[in-house]
Amino acid sequence: MTEKPVALIVLAAGQGSRMQSDLPKVLHRLGGVPLVGHALATGRLLEPEEVIVVAGHGAEAVAKAVAKLDPEARIALQEEQLGTAHAVRQAMPLLEGFEGRVIVLYGDTPFIGEETLANLASHAADVVVLGFEAADPGRYGRLVTGPEGLERIVEYKDADEATRAIRLVNSGVLAADAALLREFLPRIGNRNAAGEYYLTDIPELARAAGHRVEVVTCDESETLGINTRAELAQAEAAFQARARARALEDGVTLSDPATVWFALDTCIGRDAVIGQNVVFGPGVTVESGAEILPFCHLEGCHVSAGATVGPFARLRPGAELGGDVHVGNFVEIKNAVLDEGVKVGHLTYLGDAHVGEATNIGAGTITCNYDGVGKHRTEIGAHAFIGSDTMLVAPVRVGTRAMTGSGSVITQDVPDDALALGRARQITKPGLATRLMQALRQKKGN
Ligand code: UD1
Ligand code: CA
Repeated sequence: MTEKPVALIVLAAGQGSRMQSDLPKVLHRLGGVPLVGHALATGRLLEPEEVIVVAGHGAEAVAKAVAKLDPEARIALQEEQLGTAHAVRQAMPLLEGFEGRVIVLYGDTPFIGEETLANLASHAADVVVLGFEAADPGRYGRLVTGPEGLERIVEYKDADEATRAIRLVNSGVLAADAALLREFLPRIGNRNAAGEYYLTDIPELARAAGHRVEVVTCDESETLGINTRAELAQAEAAFQARARARALEDGVTLSDPATVWFALDTCIGRDAVIGQNVVFGPGVTVESGAEILPFCHLEGCHVSAGATVGPFARLRPGAELGGDVHVGNFVEIKNAVLDEGVKVGHLTYLGDAHVGEATNIGAGTITCNYDGVGKHRTEIGAHAFIGSDTMLVAPVRVGTRAMTGSGSVITQDVPDDALALGRARQITKPGLATRLMQALRQKKGN
């Protein structure tokens, strides 16, 4: 075992033509995030010194997505996709001065495990290729092994019948020391059936120069690469199955696991209860003991211990629910902090707002946060009472312990302890209802 510094190169320049899509393949979503986010997230667990993503097709969009997923990752541009060795070469200038182990991953292969990567990082051989025994070896590169480890990789297109019969195949993941890659990448040519610069030529070249080249194997499920929409759908199913199993193992109650959808980074505490048909978009944390009732959609939000949400609630990015907050049915919360004990029971929109502790928000309340051009904030103090059907026209502030009357349109700040009424005064006409109905019926002729 050696402990060398690690650099990751994630190949993501290919078009993915079999996706039949204008979107670069690695930007299709899996577990709520772009595909490339999965390899990046697992790779990060190795605490690499450098992370380089090689982008080509849709490079601008890929770079933008990567900046969000992993702000420290850098982009190498591969203008023309001339093969996997050519792709890695484009990344090497960004690794100038780096001495250590380089691990090459594919952006379209999301399930490589942390342990597998750690094995590659710490392996004593000079070049390590991640292989697997394929149920159907298909068009994978074949790993030709001998008594001293891996002799060479033969691409399917270049393989004879005997070589094609080998079932030990190349996942595409390769680890080698940076110095070795610097030496051998420039020596790789493209005289092969595909006319491409194959990264898979590295093992044979390195071995011929006396280096130690080995195979590490993993389960086939880790190597699932995505080339088609059908494979993406299969991968999503596999991802969800694993996420559900992990949540159950972690002590989360899922009333009907098959109907709950997770994102790559969903984080749910022990003894949280998740009802049927709940969807977690990216960036959700639900603390221990919180309860999400059926048919809720959550994204980019935090739900504290003891809070209850739903049924039929939507928490959008920036929703932060304090302890014991209650958010009920048909409530939407966006970019709003609800302090401890706030109750928002029914049919309400709170956006760009802060609601103080123990405040009650009546049914049908709306923060009118958008004027058609800009967004404005609503501040509501602690222990306040917002009457049903209050329109809070932002920017506006409702003070501590203040109240608003039902049906009010609040356009001016309400001081602490005040009651604000912003609605038409009621007029009552005795007997007029009956007289009016009679008149109407007569007019209709009965
Ligand atoms: C590659 C391997 C093969 C292995 C298989 C596993 C080579 C020559 N072959 O074949 O041994 O069994 O993966 O899936 O390496 N890419 C670039 N730039 C390029 C070419 C590819 O970024 O110029 C990226 C692609 O976007 C993709 C990955 O590298 O994510 C693999 O490329 P692909 O063309 O799919 O390689 P395979 O033919 O599948
Ligand atoms: Ca492929």
